[in-house]
Amino acid sequence: MIAGPAVTNGARTPDPTAAAAIVRDHFGAPLPPIALILGSGMSGLELDDPRSVRYSDLPGWPRVSVAGHAGELVHGLLAGVPVLSLRGRAHMYEGHRPADVVAPLRVLHAVGVRVLIATNAAGSLDPLLPPGHLMLIADHMNLMARSPLAGPVAGSESRWPDLKDCYDPELRKIIREAAREEGIALREGVYAGVLGPSYETPAEVRMLRVLGAQAVGMSTVPEAITARALGMRVAGISCITNRASGAGAGPLAHDEVIEVGGALTPTLTRLLARALPHI
Ligand code: HPA
Repeated sequence: MIAGPAVTNGARTPDPTAAAAIVRDHFGAPLPPIALILGSGMSGLELDDPRSVRYSDLPGWPRVSVAGHAGELVHGLLAGVPVLSLRGRAHMYEGHRPADVVAPLRVLHAVGVRVLIATNAAGSLDPLLPPGHLMLIADHMNLMARSPLAGPVAGSESRWPDLKDCYDPELRKIIREAAREEGIALREGVYAGVLGPSYETPAEVRMLRVLGAQAVGMSTVPEAITARALGMRVAGISCITNRASGAGAGPLAHDEVIEVGGALTPTLTRLLARALPHI
């Protein structure tokens, strides 16, 4: 619960209070402590007993303009576990300010979410990680040249969140075990978050490999940083939709990313359904 005005940094951070009140009114209490963010092409992840509210009905919630990203917050059950599912996200490359991209995190925290599972579509930098596979994010590199936390501190957030265990070791263990039980091949690796929207040059792909990243994408990093500043536990799963540009056979297209992301959604659903009851 946020008591009184939550904004302590002027115009920078949208106040989550109004959107949180609408979410509470719409879905009723208690609200689930777990939220999923669904990446490109993954909005098809179905929940049981779904109820939804459109992002456009939530003040301060950024609009999503990218094909493959629906724009609604869904309340429902996955394997009997209540979750809030974000069908689509905003990206900085759409022109959103960093603080606006992460505004949903502050609303989720205000309604009681304490575990974030962020999924994304990503390009593979590793020859041994082909498209059509899932990668559990062990760590990230923020190569977006900006932080969602820059500016005065919002609410009760940490000024200097420690990101050593940004991707929660216990959650990762649960997800690894779930993958084993489901017979799902799950690599673990480092996600490089870049601003985009252009795909990488071959030189950038070589650079990212040298830096030690296995996958590259244009999301998740701002959300994970903000979630940690809010004290949430975070897990991240990349759906490898393509080989990073220059490493694949032909030119890369967003449609391909959406298509492979969609094809991986049933596997992602099985993985989460197996893991969620243990979280
Ligand atoms: N690069 C960056 N972002 C991405 C990619 C990629 O190859 N695939 C999906 N999102």
